[in-house]
Amino acid sequence: MLWRDCCGYLTQFASTATRLTIFSLAIFLPLLSLPWIDPAISPSLGNCICSPMERFWGGNGISGNKNMVKQLQHCGVFSSERVAEVMEKIDRGCFVTDGTPPYIDSPMTIGYNVTISAPHMHAMCLQLLEPNLQPGMHALDVGSGTGYLTACFAIMVGNQGRAVGVEHIPELVNFSVKNIQKSEAASLMEEGSLSIHVGDGREGWPEFAPYDAIHVGAAAKEIPQALIDQLKPGGRMVIPVGNVFQDLKVVEKNSDGTLSIRNETAVRYVPLTSRDAQLRGS
Ligand SMILES: C[S@@+](CC[C@H](N)C(=O)[O-])C[C@H]1O[C@@H](n2cnc3c(N)ncnc32)[C@H](O)[C@@H]1O
Repeated sequence: MLWRDCCGYLTQFASTATRLTIFSLAIFLPLLSLPWIDPAISPSLGNCICSPMERFWGGNGISGNKNMVKQLQHCGVFSSERVAEVMEKIDRGCFVTDGTPPYIDSPMTIGYNVTISAPHMHAMCLQLLEPNLQPGMHALDVGSGTGYLTACFAIMVGNQGRAVGVEHIPELVNFSVKNIQKSEAASLMEEGSLSIHVGDGREGWPEFAPYDAIHVGAAAKEIPQALIDQLKPGGRMVIPVGNVFQDLKVVEKNSDGTLSIRNETAVRYVPLTSRDAQLRGS
């Protein structure tokens, strides 16, 4: 079952010929004792499961942030060195609630009917947005939750750039500020290039628009117009869209203002909704 999931994920990106190759590998690689998994970390991995809606490894998680990042690379979730660097710098351990194991590849509850996203989703979104997270650029994180991705964005755009989180639960905004204070992005928040705001993320955050990169951390019924308006020409937005069946969409604004939209993969996120609806759990 695990190998079938692995193939299911990979084949979304592969040609038919590649699918056949992967299918053959899926049958034979287990017989070879997975030599491509680093033996230093494989004992704690459980299994490498490759479905974006599920997780890339099970077991009790991985010992340490660095090994988690290494394992995401091994599973092919991302390839960018800048993503590896920022994920190593921003320790996921600073962003989970007390008593929650931080390095399991799974979303974890943070209260208020929501979760911190799984490490593989963080990595995937960082990789998709990486070209638009260059020093000096502006990035918006809608539904910033724990503040993890906002902190990563802040490191990537640097102190000449701007990383803005918008979250509609005030308690989570306080939680994220405390988390960021424990992290490598603390000085950027102090200096003012990183900020987190209480607000309805469907309205974006016009103060620092237009944005080169917009990430939405909760599933919208449709792409909010305010976010499209606040995306810079040449900018890129990554947003899960849908209800029960959701697609992670990559939205690019062309220089003439038109949009190019593609589906990256199927995903499962909590809804982008009103505060009341979220707290009611509806
Ligand atoms: C999956 S969670 C957290 C994602 C975040 N990237 C993380 O890993 O910590 C999604 C977040 O979106 C927030 N959210 C949902 N609807 C929202 C809205 N309309 N405006 C702002 N935040 C919203 C939730 O409160 C939650 O914190």
